[in-house]
Amino acid sequence: MDLESLEERCSRILREMECSLTARDRVGLQDFVLLDAYTSETAFLDNLRKRFHENLIYTYIGTLLVSVNPYKELGIYTKKQMDVYMGVNFFELPPHIFALADNVYRTMISETNNHFILISGESGAGKTEASKKILQFYAVSCPSTRLLDNVRDRLLLSNPVLEAFGNAKTLKNDNSSRFGKYMDIQFDHRGAAVGGHILSYLLEKSRVVHQNHGERNFHVFYQLVEGGEDDLLRWLGLQRSCQNYRCLVKGDCAKVTSINDKNDWKTVRKALSIIEFSESDIEHLFAIIASVLHLGNVQFDANIRGYASLSNSNELHWLSKLLGIQTHVLQEGLTHRKIEAKAEEVLSPFTTEHAIYARDALAKAIYGRTFNWLVNKINESLANKDSSRKTVIGLLDIYGFEVFHVNSFEQFCINYCNEKLQQLFIQLTLKSEQEEYEMEGIEWEPVPYFNNKIICDLVEEKHRGIISVLDEECLRPGEATDLTFLEKLEETLNGHPHFVTHKLADQKTRKTLERGDFRLLHYAGEVTYSVKGFLDKNNDLLYRNIKDVMRQSQNNIIKLCFPKTEPDTKRRPETVATQFKSSLAGLTDILMSKEPWYVRCVKPNSGKQPGRFDDVMVRHQVKYLGLMEHLRVRRAGFAYRRRYEVFLQRYKPLCPDTWPNWKGTAAEGVQRLVKHLGYKPDEYKMGRTKIFIRHPRTLFATEDAFDVCKHQLATRIQAKYKGYRVKGDFLKQKEAATRIETCWRGLMARKEKEKRAWAVKVIKKFIKGFMTRNQPACMDNSEYLAFVRQNYLTRLKDNLPKSILQRNAWLTAPPIMQEASRLLQKMYIRLMVRQYIRGISAQRKAQLQLKATASSLFRGRKENYPFSVARPFADTRISEQDINIKVLQTICQEGVKYSVPVIKYDRNGFRPRFRQLIFTQVAAYLVEEGKVKQRMEFSSLRGVSVSNLSDNFLILHIACDDVKQKGDLVLQCDYLFEALTRLSVVTNNKNLVKIVQGSVRFDIQPGREGFVDFKSGSESMVYRAKNGHLMVESTRTKTR
Ligand SMILES: Nc1ncnc2c1ncn2[C@@H]1O[C@H](COP(=O)(O)OP(=O)(O)OP(=O)(O)O)[C@@H](O)[C@H]1O
Ligand SMILES: [Mg+2]
Repeated sequence: MDLESLEERCSRILREMECSLTARDRVGLQDFVLLDAYTSETAFLDNLRKRFHENLIYTYIGTLLVSVNPYKELGIYTKKQMDVYMGVNFFELPPHIFALADNVYRTMISETNNHFILISGESGAGKTEASKKILQFYAVSCPSTRLLDNVRDRLLLSNPVLEAFGNAKTLKNDNSSRFGKYMDIQFDHRGAAVGGHILSYLLEKSRVVHQNHGERNFHVFYQLVEGGEDDLLRWLGLQRSCQNYRCLVKGDCAKVTSINDKNDWKTVRKALSIIEFSESDIEHLFAIIASVLHLGNVQFDANIRGYASLSNSNELHWLSKLLGIQTHVLQEGLTHRKIEAKAEEVLSPFTTEHAIYARDALAKAIYGRTFNWLVNKINESLANKDSSRKTVIGLLDIYGFEVFHVNSFEQFCINYCNEKLQQLFIQLTLKSEQEEYEMEGIEWEPVPYFNNKIICDLVEEKHRGIISVLDEECLRPGEATDLTFLEKLEETLNGHPHFVTHKLADQKTRKTLERGDFRLLHYAGEVTYSVKGFLDKNNDLLYRNIKDVMRQSQNNIIKLCFPKTEPDTKRRPETVATQFKSSLAGLTDILMSKEPWYVRCVKPNSGKQPGRFDDVMVRHQVKYLGLMEHLRVRRAGFAYRRRYEVFLQRYKPLCPDTWPNWKGTAAEGVQRLVKHLGYKPDEYKMGRTKIFIRHPRTLFATEDAFDVCKHQLATRIQAKYKGYRVKGDFLKQKEAATRIETCWRGLMARKEKEKRAWAVKVIKKFIKGFMTRNQPACMDNSEYLAFVRQNYLTRLKDNLPKSILQRNAWLTAPPIMQEASRLLQKMYIRLMVRQYIRGISAQRKAQLQLKATASSLFRGRKENYPFSVARPFADTRISEQDINIKVLQTICQEGVKYSVPVIKYDRNGFRPRFRQLIFTQVAAYLVEEGKVKQRMEFSSLRGVSVSNLSDNFLILHIACDDVKQKGDLVLQCDYLFEALTRLSVVTNNKNLVKIVQGSVRFDIQPGREGFVDFKSGSESMVYRAKNGHLMVESTRTKTR
């Protein structure tokens, strides 16, 4: 919730409060504290009445809840209503018992302390109903689990069982609690109800044998007779009619319209099994109830000697069966008592009167002790064995103040109890409140209140109190009677302002008192008690021998109720009144250690009528319940106070100065805190050790702010914690990562080490292999050699010669591979050659053959030959079109093989002339245009001379006998090697060409010779030398 919504909420509450103020005329005020005339009893009553007539039965005085019994169902205790009140601030909704229950519960949870809710009011005011509503609210609102549901069911179901055994119809209330009940509900730290414990106080046992007119015995008897199954009744020897049992009809009203005994029986039967009563326990319990009924019917006759004897053996038979005691033992026990005479024990018979007394005493004892057993058994079932710390909320539903027409010992005890509770209330609220203001130095106008200590003392004071006098009378030897007790009282308490008897009273009062009466002026009013039966009831004597008889019982519950070890012989047991006094002192101690909350129940009329508001009766209750005093204190005082330390500790997160720690004193811290919270000066006071806050709304606003702040703090703590957790996780992961890294590095290092060790081994082996590589193969060098082999082969593979021409570029082999290398080289060359050959075309092959022929002719013999090698040979240098047609016609029959342009040097003057040289199948022709200048048959060709130099002259030597014939031809041809190779092929004469040095002789004409001289010079030239020779100078070519 954000601050804005908090503000909204505050203003809504204020609006609602204002609304309730405007509705005041109709429904009255929901908190008496807001009453203007807060000292007026009439105004108080008016408000209560107004609300009552509007069915608004609850009204607050601060945190005290006043409840008026509506005597009708209002439909305000539904689950829906519970949900509405759950977790809501006290003053936000109309007053309700659920609001109080919820507030107590939440305070207990937040302050981790114990609380009790004191529910008081007179008989029939609605105390038991209120306590049931509170229990039901917790059953619904507390966190639950299956296990806790079990506890919850037991807590809830303990009620009908205890009510069956401890409640009865009285004149005042059809379901009047005839015992006091204090019930602790235990809660664990989460606020779940985990257990409970019940303390019971003074059961009104006399009701078992006697009921006033219009009253009934305890419900359980009627429930059994009316609701018990036929088989069960048969087994118990009972008949289905209450009229058959004397102890059920003393009040003459066995049937009551408001009570459905049959249905109640079913509820009790079911509850017993849920509270874990075993079948045998239940059987024995029913046997006891039945035996009390039978015992009530036991009658005595006086025999001739005047002693009592049993008049009907039927009841005895059933008693014997149900209690598991032999008949004669039982009979003797009911009609005799044991007397100690000197050292002997003698049986003395009863008179009928005595026998009746003993019978009733037995019935009361059996019932009373069984009731205590029942409470213990329920406690066992509610017990929480877990020893962890628990907080409790106690519910005190104890009999209210009672005034009957005739009031006996029981009323005396009950009213004394109410005095004690009133005293506690005074102590806890009025007195302590005023004392506290004084102690704290808070300005305060004392509120006068009636302190009932004087009455409590009157009853319980040692030696002088009524109980002391009664006990004394009970214990003293001699003839003590109720009347001697009264005399003793008159003696001791003469002059006490709250005690009157017939003898001590003034004239006027005396008229209202019988001789056997005494009157106490209780805080709640005057009550006149009849002393009749006081001594007997206080003694509660059970004859010793009847106890012995009971000890023989086979009934398990009776066995437990009459234990063998009961210290009964010498010391007298404590009287009932003293026991009651001590148990009340114990209760006071229990309550004093807890935080009190109050529900004051008011009875609107004595007729149990809905809608009737008896002013006199209510005014009386308002007075004795101390409501006016409470209101005055509330108005004058402060709604809330806390020790500075506690207040600061709780609310310090609300102020930046005090959070998280305040360095100064707690009081200073609180001062700073309230200043920060904006408390107005009249809203609070600073005491010596505590802060006092006047209005609850101030506190609730603070509490709401704290609620908001708590969430913020929780979020922050959560965030911190989450951060812490995540950091923790991160550190863990980091550590894990580092560890994994370390392990991994270790692993890698080990692997590396292994690898290196392996490498060292390999290298060592390699070196050893290298050193012994030239030795015969052995262990040491085998691997190395294998490596060398493989390495060589691999390298060789990558470095093979790319072409046949590189065949010498063969990778040098290591010594051990030389043989293999040689073989491989050979194979590879062969392979290359084969591949080369396969790749050559027929035309290229012919070309190459020509080249090979040229090579065989000129290689190493003519200087410029190497230059020609790279030049491919052509089939011819002059195409047929370029040869004159006439020439072609002349020679075509011979088949032209090759033609080439040449320069022909005249034989006589060596003048150069361009000619065509054509080779046919049989002859060579020298052609000039269309004229065949010279035909030379190959058969007459004697040879061809060429120089060894780099010129391209050729001299064709022709055999010629005829002088008229032309002589040899001196030609110059650019395609010298091609032309001569072709000629050599055409003539099929490999020896045709002759390489000459220096000079060539040739025939100018037969018989006349000429010379061509060859020489190397600085430049190429051809000229006729002085000696008449043709001089051919050629440049020297550099050999490649
Ligand atoms: N809140 C209520 N709503 C309706 N009826 C109620 C309410 N409170 C009490 N009653 C009626 O009043 C009767 C008496 O109430 P309850 O038994 O609680 O009185 P009591 O104060 O416990 O009396 P006692 O001191 O005799 O035990 C109930 O049986 C019921 O009929
Ligand atoms: Mg009651």
